[in-house]
Amino acid sequence: MNPDEQSSKAIGPIIGISFAILAFLFWLIYFKTPAYSDAGWVKTLPTILASLNAVSACCLAVGLVAIKRGIKRVHIASMISATVSSAVFLILYIIYHHYHGNTKFLGEGIIRPIYFFILISHILLSVVVVPLIFLTLWFAKTKRYDRHKRIAKWTFPIWMYVSVTGILVYLILNTFNAA
Ligand code: HEM
Repeated sequence: MNPDEQSSKAIGPIIGISFAILAFLFWLIYFKTPAYSDAGWVKTLPTILASLNAVSACCLAVGLVAIKRGIKRVHIASMISATVSSAVFLILYIIYHHYHGNTKFLGEGIIRPIYFFILISHILLSVVVVPLIFLTLWFAKTKRYDRHKRIAKWTFPIWMYVSVTGILVYLILNTFNAA
């Protein structure tokens, strides 16, 4: 099998795994009855989740600047750190939603359409970004840098958007639901 065929063979499993993760999250958030908990550590999870989004966004930015300057070692380390931070995010997100269902937004007025635009675009793009991250990493691992670069042109801005809007959703909820 030539490297191109070997590289392409992974696309099916990557899309399958991404779909399984997303289907599980959909069930967890919208269908599973939450195991409600008052524990302090559960209440701190949204702040930790928003911080992990911030870490991913910073690592992505450093990784892009590094590869633009030709510093491959920093690019690789930053992108792997962004992936680890997003993976830890996903694990804690699952734990949080095991205890806590969907959060109702209590804000009124102009902030409502703004919040829902950010939230809905965040959710839709987070669905798209999961297989894109896997594929970008896979093409880097298999040294198909032409494909890596082509797909990363989409992965990078979408991942950045999802990370930054994740922080915004947290900040808006904290401001308007606390009021
Ligand atoms: C999912 C995480 C990653 C993202 C989002 C990403 C993003 C990017 C982007 C946007 C470029 C093109 C930069 C330009 O416009 O010039 C690029 C190039 C590159 N990336 Fe990544 N990268 C990731 C992970 C990796 C990993 C893990 C490796 C190494 C194993 C790697 C190695 C490279 C190399 C060598 C190039 C330069 C390719 C060339 O110029 O021919 N990347 N990456």
